[in-house]
Amino acid sequence: MSTRDITFYGVGVGPGDPELITLKAARIIKNADIVAYITNVKGESVAKNIASDVLLEAKSAQLTLPIEISMSIGRTDINKAYDTASREILALMREGKTIAFLCEGDPLFFGSFIYLMDRISAQQNCKIIPGITSVNAASAQLSTPLTILSEDMAIISSRSTDQKIADTLATYDTVAILKAGPHMPRLITLLKAAGRKEDTQYIEYATHTSEKIVKDVSLISDNKGPYFSLLLITRKEREYRCD
Ligand SMILES: C[S@@+](CC[C@H](N)C(=O)[O-])C[C@H]1O[C@@H](n2cnc3c(N)ncnc32)[C@H](O)[C@@H]1O
Repeated sequence: MSTRDITFYGVGVGPGDPELITLKAARIIKNADIVAYITNVKGESVAKNIASDVLLEAKSAQLTLPIEISMSIGRTDINKAYDTASREILALMREGKTIAFLCEGDPLFFGSFIYLMDRISAQQNCKIIPGITSVNAASAQLSTPLTILSEDMAIISSRSTDQKIADTLATYDTVAILKAGPHMPRLITLLKAAGRKEDTQYIEYATHTSEKIVKDVSLISDNKGPYFSLLLITRKEREYRCD
């Protein structure tokens, strides 16, 4: 990275296992003047934790820029927090600083980087270093192919309406439902109604040391799980060898 490479990097650090950070992501993180990341109100950052070993090897005098955004505040206040953060990032870039913004999973897949890039890219150079997504990590940890042959797949948030989730379950062979944990009782009801409960596997903290897998979701029907969880729904009977 040359000293004139003034870029705001969205760096995917993958789903949790530090060994799933790409070589390119590690290089960009180590060489950045400033490493930025979102924190919760307690100052905790999942993305920073994932990259902690890489950060130990960062260039000397590297600074950090924690950006506190509580997802429990309304969208208007979240937007104001992104406005403030992007002004700060732009000011640092005008001073000649290169910034690596750490993103859990992939930056452009439901990532906070998207909302900062939207505010910064008209004025400064933005680049993305892709990361392994939670959906790919779940597929690997569950040893379950996402799609084979002519199957279709949809990714949906559990914040969608009941109708949209029901329609998606009825239409697609494979469905990944993100942000699942807090919505589990409602999701189980929808899965049962769609006849897809037996197709469903649950995973939380995929590839973290605290990973938990539940292959029979009726075991968790009344329990809520953490935000970092998802459901992977795939056909029980699959045509692996069609002629
Ligand atoms: C805001 S999205 C971020 C997605 C992330 N950028 C990615 O590439 O996977 C957060 C949601 O992703 C899912 N997620 C992220 N990491 C996960 C993990 N390690 N295990 C299970 N689900 C995860 C959860 O559904 C969580 O609610």
